[in-house]
Amino acid sequence: MNAILHAQQLTKYYPGSIALDNVHFTANAGQSIAIIGPSGSGKTTLLHCLAGILRPDAGAITLNTPSSALRLDTLGDAALSRLRREEFGFVFQQGMLLPELTALENVALALMLNGTDRATSENRAAEWLAALGLAGMEQRRLGELSGGQVQRVAIARAQVTGARVVFADEPTGALDSATSKEVLDVLLHSVAANGRTLLVVTHDPNVASRCERVVELRDGRIVADSAASVAAPDSSAPASQATPNTQNANLKGAFNV
Ligand SMILES: Nc1ncnc2c1ncn2[C@@H]1O[C@H](COP(=O)(O)OP(=O)(O)O)[C@@H](O)[C@H]1O
Ligand SMILES: [Mg+2]
Repeated sequence: MNAILHAQQLTKYYPGSIALDNVHFTANAGQSIAIIGPSGSGKTTLLHCLAGILRPDAGAITLNTPSSALRLDTLGDAALSRLRREEFGFVFQQGMLLPELTALENVALALMLNGTDRATSENRAAEWLAALGLAGMEQRRLGELSGGQVQRVAIARAQVTGARVVFADEPTGALDSATSKEVLDVLLHSVAANGRTLLVVTHDPNVASRCERVVELRDGRIVADSAASVAAPDSSAPASQATPNTQNANLKGAFNV
């Protein structure tokens, strides 16, 4: 077991509600993990705390890199935003991309913000766009792309920096079902082929069933975790050979939301 992200006793309050209630959670390197649960159960809050976007009111969050164990809950703002830029990638339902920039510029910007020169950034961005099926569309602005193509740009941007962990919050929520499947294929394959860890919040049973592990939240608590009933994946196996966990079919009943 090779823990990359570890949260202990995570608690987050909002006025009048508790969004996360003493959550313990560990993601292993290379795992794809679906986070499911009814609306308002704390999925987005958990993702944002684990990604260093929101600060928890209590609890510890640790990111293990080969060189160190970093405590996200105690890092200062500047160090935290640098860590987010360098170690994490984000794919949201919409947003996070800049509509006035081209597809190429949106992806290259992630590298330029980390100090890579423009020419190198644009070359790498073009490689990622091509790998995700967007060759020839580099110079289009986002308004000139379909919803599925925009999400591919977001998937390229999330990974171009070499992010160790990719966070996705309902990444196919705004897409029709055929396009959702395509985008999900691209996300799962590219993340696995590059050995990254994926945490994906979803309402879609198809998304969850294709992840190695499913974690279910209710009222700010983890109420089911498929990793608790199945052997942890062998972290020495290549991530690209990760197979969907057929036992996740048992969790499909959890989608009655
Ligand atoms: N910015 C906020 N201000 C106040 N309450 C919030 C805020 N964000 C989330 N909440 C509350 O926290 C709980 C969890 O929300 P959220 O994490 O967005 O759930 P989910 O993503 O599962 O729908 C809900 O009760 C929600 O109303
Ligand atoms: Mg949400």
